[in-house]
Amino acid sequence: MKILVTGCSGLLGSKLTPLLARRGYNVVGIYNVHRPSYSADGVKLVKLDITNTVALEDLVLKEKPDVIIHAAAYTDVDGCERDKNRAWRINVEATKSLVRTARVVKSYIIYISTDYIFDGSKGDYIEGDTPCPINYYGLTKLIGEELVRGSDLLHTIVRPSAIYGLGGSKKSFAEYIVEKLMRNECVKALTDQYVSPTYNGLLAKAIAEIVELRPMGVLHIAGPRMNRYEFALKIAKALDLPLELVKEASMKEMTHWIACRPRDSSLDTSKAKQLLKTRFYDVDLAVDLFKKEWLSRRGEPCP
Ligand SMILES: NC(=O)c1ccc[n+]([C@@H]2O[C@H](COP(=O)([O-])OP(=O)(O)OC[C@H]3O[C@@H](n4cnc5c(N)ncnc54)[C@H](OP(=O)(O)O)[C@@H]3O)[C@@H](O)[C@H]2O)c1
Repeated sequence: MKILVTGCSGLLGSKLTPLLARRGYNVVGIYNVHRPSYSADGVKLVKLDITNTVALEDLVLKEKPDVIIHAAAYTDVDGCERDKNRAWRINVEATKSLVRTARVVKSYIIYISTDYIFDGSKGDYIEGDTPCPINYYGLTKLIGEELVRGSDLLHTIVRPSAIYGLGGSKKSFAEYIVEKLMRNECVKALTDQYVSPTYNGLLAKAIAEIVELRPMGVLHIAGPRMNRYEFALKIAKALDLPLELVKEASMKEMTHWIACRPRDSSLDTSKAKQLLKTRFYDVDLAVDLFKKEWLSRRGEPCP
């Protein structure tokens, strides 16, 4: 079976792409600026800017993948607010092209969406709750969802929240916390923004299960609800780092933010828990895996 993964160089894609290859799939991974450094036998890497929709459509028509996992996005929330044209071309137009060509070659599509399609006024959102994005990133991702949902394709829409882990070209919040604390620097973390931190390794495993099961519709795949301060403490504790350097902050101090952020975009994951074997919701397992990965990257023995 052939799987096309967009965003194979991102925080999620850098875990998902080699995992699918290890499971014996024939994988084509699209990156744009950052060529992945993971060793991935069985992965054909293609450098392609997905805003070049002619090239993107040509590739899909040539490769004829059985499955498309669309994980590429312009994920910089403030960047999307600043450059709406870029956000639209990457998050909406490229999705439109993928849907169009997936219909021609009859692929099953997994669209990676986000908790930011919700306004954050409620929290613990279930799949059927009404989306109401409060920033441009969330709006473009919701339109992407609607393009997929409105097609006649066999599809699954996966919504994670606050992805963390190692891999990709950007530092995730967890990596930033660890690096600052290791330098004995303070980290400010929000006590009034609630998310469902999702470890990229477990998210990738859950998506690999979805490839096999092909459930139609929306699935929330995320960790448990917590504020960013609680999450920072969890990471610090797991890695034996000084907890007193984690300082409380509130959203109103974030004066440099351009885009509004939801106050509580946490996700209810009951539906996916019933369907999947992967323990994507188990924060202790996730943090332990993150810790082992961090130590092995530094060449330290894992306890
Ligand atoms: N990160 C989070 O906290 C979070 C939370 C909820 C949902 N999500 C969703 O999860 C998915 C994966 O996110 P992530 O954190 O892995 O993202 P990420 O680390 O920011 O990576 C983005 C990926 O998209 C690719 N990309 C961006 N613009 C492109 C273009 N013009 N042409 C081709 N590829 C392009 C990047 O390729 P290059 O780096 O090579 O340019 C990279 O592989 C996204 O759909 C995102 O909306 C993320």
